[in-house]
Amino acid sequence: MIAPSVLAADFANLQRDVEMINSSQADWFHIDIMDGHFVPNISFGLPVCEAIHRHAKKPLDVHLMIEKPELYLEAFKKAGAANISVHFEACKHLHRTLQEIKNLGCLAGVVLNPATPVSVLEDILPYCEMVLLMSVNPGFGGQQFIEFTYDKVRKLKRMITERNLNTLIEIDGGVNYETGQKLVEAGADVLVAGSYVFNAKNPVQTIEELKTLYL
Ligand code: DX5
Ligand code: ZN
Repeated sequence: MIAPSVLAADFANLQRDVEMINSSQADWFHIDIMDGHFVPNISFGLPVCEAIHRHAKKPLDVHLMIEKPELYLEAFKKAGAANISVHFEACKHLHRTLQEIKNLGCLAGVVLNPATPVSVLEDILPYCEMVLLMSVNPGFGGQQFIEFTYDKVRKLKRMITERNLNTLIEIDGGVNYETGQKLVEAGADVLVAGSYVFNAKNPVQTIEELKTLYL
């Protein structure tokens, strides 16, 4: 699956860019929420998420880069989130938070920063419907892909298979055709792509090319 990141869209032409994703082969809208505390950047919040939802014809994949994400789960559900992913590093009571996300009827995801090993998921994995591995340090688009991510994907894939789970593996940061190809080989199910899609001459075609990685 491909989830273009709206963070790289033109916010003054958001409806145009949402329609571009609607008309493409993209599967989800990736929505990056940053609070200026958990990450050193502020993106946008609930009203923008809700506005995107009004025009989006595909599910919203909400990535919360915020402290105390448990306080905002219901609000993001109301703003149209289909998937809600929270950072392992931001959750004191991750098991409870994942259950709250599921109780809202959303797909529950856990995000790991590049420096957080997949081994921390050993016990909680059966409660994660998706694991999002950051392949850059969260906070900004357009950063360089961190190479050891491939190993993390392989390790995580092994953990999922060993436990007979169907947890999705999503990768976020520095994804392009080349890194995407290796990620899919390693076991990635969902690729997030921001600058690679939106800086392309033909974003719809670029999404189409990324989709061929799954053929
Ligand atoms: C980074 C965000 C990403 C970002 C990816 O903190 O979580 O979703 O938009 O951007 P690219 O694809 O440009 O690395
Ligand atoms: Zn993201």
